[in-house]
Amino acid sequence: MKISLAPLQGLTEFPFRNAMHELIGGPDQYYTPFLRLENDGTLKNKYLKDLHPDYNKDVPLIPQILVNNSTDFLFLAKIIEDFGYSELNWNLGCPFPMVAKRKLGSGLIPYPQEIKQLLENALPKTRLQVSIKIRAGYLEPDEIFSVLEALEPLPVKEIVLHPRIGKQMYHGTADATIYEEALKKTSHILGYNGDIDSIASHQALYSRFPDCRHWMIGRAMVGNPFLAAEIKANQLMDTGKKRKLFEVFHETLLTHYRKVLEGDGHLHTKMIHFWEYFANLFEDSHKVYKPIKKSKNFNACHAAMYYAIRNEPLKSE
Ligand SMILES: Cc1cc2nc3c(=O)[nH]c(=O)nc-3n(C[C@H](O)[C@H](O)[C@H](O)COP(=O)(O)O)c2cc1C
Repeated sequence: MKISLAPLQGLTEFPFRNAMHELIGGPDQYYTPFLRLENDGTLKNKYLKDLHPDYNKDVPLIPQILVNNSTDFLFLAKIIEDFGYSELNWNLGCPFPMVAKRKLGSGLIPYPQEIKQLLENALPKTRLQVSIKIRAGYLEPDEIFSVLEALEPLPVKEIVLHPRIGKQMYHGTADATIYEEALKKTSHILGYNGDIDSIASHQALYSRFPDCRHWMIGRAMVGNPFLAAEIKANQLMDTGKKRKLFEVFHETLLTHYRKVLEGDGHLHTKMIHFWEYFANLFEDSHKVYKPIKKSKNFNACHAAMYYAIRNEPLKSE
């Protein structure tokens, strides 16, 4: 059984991945948030940096791309291959309207023949193994089935299914019955992603799908970077140990972003974004998050973050 950290743009870039891998561990693999080309066909430096081997030493990393034609696919595949990676992941899940309306991410799911054609063109021209991360559909949850049929003859390494539709964004719940149906319709390896947020919720899905070899976890693992380790150990980490380790992890992230972000304003916004998730480590997440979110400047935010880290009770179940 493999557990991976899902890609979350703005959160799971290399500072988070490295700190997690070095200090905590748990996931067997990590994904970059999607890389995409600008309108003029270039790749922004921030994406190149997140991908560069110098910033990703020792971390088992799979770069993810967001494209809808084989030229862009192969352009990015070449960069990824030249950096020494052996696999790329194609994003067919991004739900954001600005993306989906341009037939990217989940917006491509209603067009299974285009997905197939792109892969038929691109796969013979790259040495990389290709995996796919996909939602159940864009508008309807049965769109996935035609895509699985189209993918059936293609040498795709694996498919990770997040059983929500694009239009749902993150509302409602991931629907495990769609995964169950999808399992019957593909001979590819089918990983599961969506709403796993505790040992118990993973256990419930694992009992239902004992043959699932890949569990991908996103938001809950950003909120609780110990989750993969806890699922594997089938027990929670001692809260004293967790508190100390979280402080070191947090300090590592903060030190990095303090160096690279210009001005306290950007640092403040970045840390509030992280704490939208980190607050869930604590018993009273609302109480922890409120003063951080409402803080008027970085110093106030810093005080609230460290008050929580040192004093607020951690969730113990
Ligand atoms: C802020 C944010 C950014 C995300 N960025 C990406 C991304 O770059 N690529 C991707 O495939 N999914 C992205 N996702 C989706 C997650 O990888 C994951 O599929 C989703 O959160 C469901 O899994 P979870 O319930 O375990 O969080 C993002 C989600 C969030 C909330």
